[in-house]
Amino acid sequence: MDISVIGAGYVGLTTAACLTELGHHVVCADNDLAKLGVLRRGDVPFYEPHLPEIVKKNHSAGNLEFAATEEAIDRNEILFICVGTPPLDNGEADLSAIESLARVIAQRAHGYRLVIEKSTVPVQTGRMLQKHLAIYNTNNLQYDVVSNPEFLREGSAMEDFFHPDRIVVGAESARAVGQVKGIYSKILDQSFICPVHPQGCGNRTRASLVLTDINSAELIKHASNSFLAMKISFINLVADLCEAADADIKKVAEGIGLDRRIGPAFLRPGIGFGGFCFPKDLQAFVRIAQTFGCDFRLLEEVEGINRRRIDMFVEKVKKELWVLRGKRIALWGLAFKPDTDDMRFAPSLGIIRRLLAEGAKPQAYDPRAMTNARKEFPEVTYCQNVYEASQSAAAILVLTEWDEFRAVDWKRIRTLVDRPLIIDGRNMFSHGQVSSYGFQYVGIGGTSRGGPAEHVGARLVAGDFGEEVR
Ligand code: UGA
Repeated sequence: MDISVIGAGYVGLTTAACLTELGHHVVCADNDLAKLGVLRRGDVPFYEPHLPEIVKKNHSAGNLEFAATEEAIDRNEILFICVGTPPLDNGEADLSAIESLARVIAQRAHGYRLVIEKSTVPVQTGRMLQKHLAIYNTNNLQYDVVSNPEFLREGSAMEDFFHPDRIVVGAESARAVGQVKGIYSKILDQSFICPVHPQGCGNRTRASLVLTDINSAELIKHASNSFLAMKISFINLVADLCEAADADIKKVAEGIGLDRRIGPAFLRPGIGFGGFCFPKDLQAFVRIAQTFGCDFRLLEEVEGINRRRIDMFVEKVKKELWVLRGKRIALWGLAFKPDTDDMRFAPSLGIIRRLLAEGAKPQAYDPRAMTNARKEFPEVTYCQNVYEASQSAAAILVLTEWDEFRAVDWKRIRTLVDRPLIIDGRNMFSHGQVSSYGFQYVGIGGTSRGGPAEHVGARLVAGDFGEEVR
């Protein structure tokens, strides 16, 4: 199928590139000419595993073209809208990019257009799109509007695109449903070669197709992100209780998550959620609920709990170090999660701000996010690796659970630090793992000492709960 994807940001570029792998020919558009230049050279302006290879391959094969928005609207009947919906000062989603796109489509396009809304938007945005396409319709354009929200996670977006739990389609005509099913047919019947696992993807369950109306599809997206954020804030509160009541959050989370009605994912406590999705989507969801007269203070509390994680973590650091002024503090990881260079709303930002205000000297290392972090905090010392970052440090703060940290040489780190203290904001290590090297370990939720399983020398339930099951 011939498809245009409008917006070459994180969602748009990922969608465009992955659609080409399903056999479609895609024109990916953006108003930012500099970005188009970068993309045409075969470069990807942000870090996402596997994406550069897929973009390069399909761009050189001619399956993926980059163009201005107007050209993309003119050339193809199927238009994916992937433009940004950033937060306004009052927390509402800024829908101006979608609104102006609706006008351009209505004024330029002839014949038929299937307008597929993929950007994260509040409920009833599709309705407004339909209305504005009608108001500005100058060429007797026929059109359908569909809501097809994305559920990609940064860092594993390719995996999520090719192996989704569900594909949600909110539509009002059989023609539109048929076309969207056609776009995803290879995923739905699993008849494509996955570029991430060309040797076979193992035992994967088939994606469910959820067919519904446009409003419900839009709500599914916002409600999913809000629910996941709520799960994280919940487990963070339970972690605080564990710490106060001398219990072990790792075991408590494991015990909770083994209930299939709850599930083990998103029960990792720590310094809280960040990124460009959860914080903004939560706020937008609360605002849109308010406009419909629904009281969603529950989610305001979720947000508040998340904000307080930063203060609580810094208090932990101060409790151990007493005075921060003049002390070198190693920061392991900066990105809001591993496998991304994204620093937007990263919990590390708030922590660095507090450390600097207290006069500490942060020395940071992150495998990908330092270029972005430097723009925000030029005064931090950025290092080549964890060893350089740990040099003469009064404490090591683990802020992002990058896999490469697991292979660290603790003996060497021990010789570098000023004080052997690890304050682990992601519970990625354990007391048992580091205490034999002489480190004091401070984790989240009663994990600072050996947990019960470590005391008895055996795990009570098989499986590493640190790994999320998908
Ligand atoms: C999230 C959703 O997971 C995606 O389904 C959705 O498509 C995306 O937002 C979006 O709306 O675009 P993402 O923001 O990439 O994806 O990252 P997540 O993996 O969801 O993590 C979000 C934050 O929660 C991270 O800071 C992570 O460290 C934190 N987190 C996650 C926890 O603190 N504990 C957990 O147990 C899980």
